Amino acid sequence: MGRGEHGLSAEDLIQEGTHLLINTYARYPILLVRGEGAKVWDSSGREYLDFVAGIAVCNLGHCHPKMVQALEEQARKLIHCSNLYYTGPQVELARRLCEHSFGERVFFCNSGSEANEAAIKLVRKYAKERHGGEKYEIITMENSFHGRTMGALSATGQQKFHKGFEPLLPGFTYVPFDDLDAVKEAIGPKTCAVMVEPIQGEGGVNLPSTNYLKGLRELCDQKGILLIYDEVQVGMGRTGTLFAYQHYGAPPHIMTLAKSLANGVPIGAMVITEEVAHTFSPGSHGTTFGGNPIATRVGCAVLDTLLGNGILENCQQMGEYLFAGLIDLKKRYDFIKEVRGKGLIIGVELEFEGKEIVERCLEKGFLINCTMDRVLRFLPPLNITRKEIDLLLTALEEVFSEQ
Ligand SMILES: Cc1ncc(COP(=O)(O)O)c(C=O)c1O
Repeated sequence: MGRGEHGLSAEDLIQEGTHLLINTYARYPILLVRGEGAKVWDSSGREYLDFVAGIAVCNLGHCHPKMVQALEEQARKLIHCSNLYYTGPQVELARRLCEHSFGERVFFCNSGSEANEAAIKLVRKYAKERHGGEKYEIITMENSFHGRTMGALSATGQQKFHKGFEPLLPGFTYVPFDDLDAVKEAIGPKTCAVMVEPIQGEGGVNLPSTNYLKGLRELCDQKGILLIYDEVQVGMGRTGTLFAYQHYGAPPHIMTLAKSLANGVPIGAMVITEEVAHTFSPGSHGTTFGGNPIATRVGCAVLDTLLGNGILENCQQMGEYLFAGLIDLKKRYDFIKEVRGKGLIIGVELEFEGKEIVERCLEKGFLINCTMDRVLRFLPPLNITRKEIDLLLTALEEVFSEQ
């Protein structure tokens, strides 16, 4: 291995990291130092093709020149100021997000969990003001993932993440994903909102039936409750449309975003309708760094680049190409149970745990991910090329043939 930063060898840095960093991630023993497009390099100069992209963060690829330029320019002008003042980039990103979605107002924060915390607080206060204190329950889905902070964790419908952190925030009911009747049954006088990922990411790349989101919206409207879409993973072009809900023709009242909104600069956002926006007033909610000039300026550059350069079209086409290649593999390897996805979020469910496959791919120079133990998940940059996909498919074929 070569040298990392500060002259220490990569091995020494990794070794030190195992002692100094809190052990919250099962990390691979490589030290990444550089990225460009769909490629990253480790400290020894070894190249990898990145089909994880920061888990759906680097949708424009690593260090996209437009993003780097926006970052550099803004860093010379103003890096931070308090939210007690206006800045151009924050207003401009809010405008762009509203122009391209159902939204009319935006709250900026720093992560997906934070965006979901904001949504949880908003729906509770909205219901309290309209209906009094007893309407605070939120229905979320089994196998959902909404983040690690206590509210977002409580919203997450997976016990494995809850373990050890109880008692959770009260007021969450979990129902099976893509089951409208289950939601109907679960709605009671205390329900104030339904929260759902349009496509579940961490839960194994689970797609809804065509009319599920529409049905949810109708149900929410009938019952006078709010609908929240968590688009933290599948928003910002990942599925081939700017927002995943746009495939299904059913806008929510509230949408949360993060991950790729600034292509790797930390940011989160809650996009909402004017009607629910009145719930928050000065003092209701806030965050020191949220909407800071750097993140929002980069967010503007990301949105402009995403929409102006055929990247969504490439995502659709390359999504279909990768999907077809994976289906082809499924025909030859019967341990592949299912291939599912939309655009460039694709899951391959295996009969067995995918850990070793991920490790073999890493050895061959490909970063891929596995979620729910058995679902290989592919989330490359949206400007990935056919040639890069071919390289992955060849590597997968080799790895699968060893099984
Ligand atoms: C759908 C969804 N919501 C929320 C989160 C949490 O986001 P963050 O890690 O930025 O807090 C994630 C992260 O994977 C996610 O996929």
